[in-house]
Amino acid sequence: MYPPSATAANALTHWAPDSWRSWPALQQPAYQNPQALALVLDALALQPALVTAERTLHLKAMLAEAQQGKRFVLQLGDCAERFDHNDLPQTRRQIALLQQMSQVLMHGLQLPVVQVARLAGQYAKPRSSDMETHDGVALPVYRGDSVNSPAFTAEARRADPQRLLDAHAHSALTLKHLHALQMAGVDQLLHGEHWSLRWLDLAQGRDRLQALLTEVQGTLRFMRTLAGSQPGAFLHREVYISHEALLLGYEQALTRQDEDGRWFNLATHLPWIGLRTAQPEGAHVEYLRGLANPVAVKVGADATPSQLNALVERLNPDNEPGRLTLIHRMGAHLLHERLGPLIEALQAQGAQVLWLCDPMHGNTRTLPCGTKTRLFNDILGEIADAFTVHARHGSWLGGLHLEASGDDVTECLGGAAGLQPADLGKHYLSQVDPRLNRDQALELALRISLDVDAWRHCA
Ligand code: PEP
Ligand code: CO
Repeated sequence: MYPPSATAANALTHWAPDSWRSWPALQQPAYQNPQALALVLDALALQPALVTAERTLHLKAMLAEAQQGKRFVLQLGDCAERFDHNDLPQTRRQIALLQQMSQVLMHGLQLPVVQVARLAGQYAKPRSSDMETHDGVALPVYRGDSVNSPAFTAEARRADPQRLLDAHAHSALTLKHLHALQMAGVDQLLHGEHWSLRWLDLAQGRDRLQALLTEVQGTLRFMRTLAGSQPGAFLHREVYISHEALLLGYEQALTRQDEDGRWFNLATHLPWIGLRTAQPEGAHVEYLRGLANPVAVKVGADATPSQLNALVERLNPDNEPGRLTLIHRMGAHLLHERLGPLIEALQAQGAQVLWLCDPMHGNTRTLPCGTKTRLFNDILGEIADAFTVHARHGSWLGGLHLEASGDDVTECLGGAAGLQPADLGKHYLSQVDPRLNRDQALELALRISLDVDAWRHCA
């Protein structure tokens, strides 16, 4: 449907898992010993795949339905997973939060929710500068556990290729935990004792929130009764995994061909690329282009309609439903003005895409003390505006992309407990971006469910 441009047409004939190497690749670590890196990548190519091609295609079909307004996607997890923080209880808390929020959103939106965790591979981070300076000492920045380590020493900050193998092993371990939770029946995590609700007493408009929660939990009890002797039968829902496909050597090594000749990234169901690596003429887009997986790309407030059209043409030339997810992350103050023209540009092309809203990355602030944070009300505000703007354009907002932790962290401000800057030091664990904690995240899901109809109607 798109008349391919000369470069795109040329590129289309030449995709291979390593064809990205002929394009500019941003945000790649500087390894001191290229031979050591090459040996690790050879070893990685012999490691087992982490997911199956069949499940990635299943997810693509779900995303195609979400695009048509028949499902809603909740993509959620850490900004950066850590190797030393991925035991079974940790994964359980993360999946419990995902399950609970999905349950609440299903109620509010009256749609099944597709659960996509930022999990089992979210180990590499793009950074805005290459170096970090303290007291006159400059060292390379921390780029995620698959590259280096956060301590401010030259040794810790050295890019170590061995960590790519560790990333594969930690991803496999997290997946093992996820499967163990699924075998035990993920609906276990929806039992009353797993919900953290003390914050409710402090919440503004407490009665509305409580009434909705009572309804959600009552429905769950009823479903469990119906399920009877087959616990989990009604509530079993798959959790798909996703991560930022940043380190292209790693992603290439986990790219495998099926019997039909299609290439899949089998490190994750949904590889996505971030704002800093989303150039239509860049290596990351080139890499994603040839995969049979569903793929996703972040879209910022500065994207122009023509850039976005070029990206969509490149990543979804056949206009296949479910293939391409666009995650807008504009900031609460810019979304209103910037999103509409992009929606219109794609509508004019008849482009089939799924839109998600990431209300986190456009709302990051740095406090005078240097701590990065985000305000609960900015996050909620961007989501509200996103529903309104999509509705106004006859477009469908098909889901959310959130950074949230199942732990009781203190990284974002506000929410019912009214977290203040002075509270951030109490349990600030993220090495990169601030996450909603489990109470703030659950509150967000409840507030969305209560108000989504009103937001859509103010269009
Ligand atoms: C992220 O999601 O952690 C991220 C780096 O996003 P963005 O590319 O939108 O800044
Ligand atoms: Co982030």
